[in-house]
Amino acid sequence: MKALVLAGGEGTRLRPITHTSAKQLVPVANRPILDFGLEAIRDAGITDVGIIVGGTHAEIEAHVGDGARFGIRVTYLHQPAPLGLAHAVLTAADWLADDDFVMYLGDNLIADGITQFVRQFRERRPTAQILLARVRDPERFGVAELDDTGHVVRLVEKPQHPPSDLALVGVYLFSSRITEAARSIAPSQRGELEITDAIQWLIEHDEPVASQIVTGWWKDTGKLDDLLEANRIILDTIDRRVDGDVDADSDVQGRVVIEKGARIVDSSVRGPAVIDSDTTLTRTFVGPYTSIGAGCTIVGSELEHSVVLDGVTIQDIGRMEDSLVGRQAHVVRSERRPRAHRFMLGDHSRVDLP
Ligand code: TTP
Repeated sequence: MKALVLAGGEGTRLRPITHTSAKQLVPVANRPILDFGLEAIRDAGITDVGIIVGGTHAEIEAHVGDGARFGIRVTYLHQPAPLGLAHAVLTAADWLADDDFVMYLGDNLIADGITQFVRQFRERRPTAQILLARVRDPERFGVAELDDTGHVVRLVEKPQHPPSDLALVGVYLFSSRITEAARSIAPSQRGELEITDAIQWLIEHDEPVASQIVTGWWKDTGKLDDLLEANRIILDTIDRRVDGDVDADSDVQGRVVIEKGARIVDSSVRGPAVIDSDTTLTRTFVGPYTSIGAGCTIVGSELEHSVVLDGVTIQDIGRMEDSLVGRQAHVVRSERRPRAHRFMLGDHSRVDLP
């Protein structure tokens, strides 16, 4: 069995971060989201991994390399444009050949990994197997209708009147028949070859499509709220480790990771939180569910429930919550006159002033 990991796409919902980087490499608890997926695949015993890449291929390739670091063997598959998940399957068709495969969306996180899911597919051998999660807002997702045996009767994309509360999770198992389905469907209204349409095609051609329901949490990190939630969930699993310097005027409480080379000066850190190497906090409070990248300088501020990437400067800004700050950003209060907000924001940035 092979794995096909989707790490192309546009990531419009995470702009401006995705103007300059791949959304699959945005970190949660200071680790790129993609790493969790690659490890879940390896833990399921799959080592032959194809990664679909698009405009951000250089960054993905630089990070994952040949995959040896993750215990996998990676082949990069270039998708000329993000024309849909079923289009990604077609892009990979030659590499997939006749093999079964797990398709994993590179921005998804699943608490329990995929080992169980893969095992069930191997035992039952359906043509396709989908993973489902109960959600409160099924109208935002692809939704499945099941029969009594758990077989999928129908899939509908973002329905106004959902037939169930079972949303499609971004992990799928397929036999090679999915390629024929992907070739047989037409683009949807938004111009993409939809994987839901390809699976629906299998159902209509009497192919068995099985399902399994996820019991642990699952997150699609494609937008800010979900990314912060994923960061919170992963931080809840960390163990305390303080390798950096904490001065006598500082206070570090609870499950906090402070990497070597980080300095905590006259500051408080209340976990769960992670602070990467060569970051200095001065007269600062870091509250729960905050991840701060490497080489940051944070002075005279309070940060909580936020993700701060590498090389950021934050100075005397008061309190910041629910935020994602991109690499090398500067957020500072200055004494310049006239007193005013002064911005240089990337396209699609968002600023929320109290
Ligand atoms: P989506 O989140 O559905 O799409 P997107 O990345 O274009 O994001 P947005 O809706 O914010 O513009 O994609 C799910 C995953 O699949 C994600 O990791 C990107 C990847 N993907 C591809 O590799 N190729 C594609 O053609 C598409 C649509 C997505």
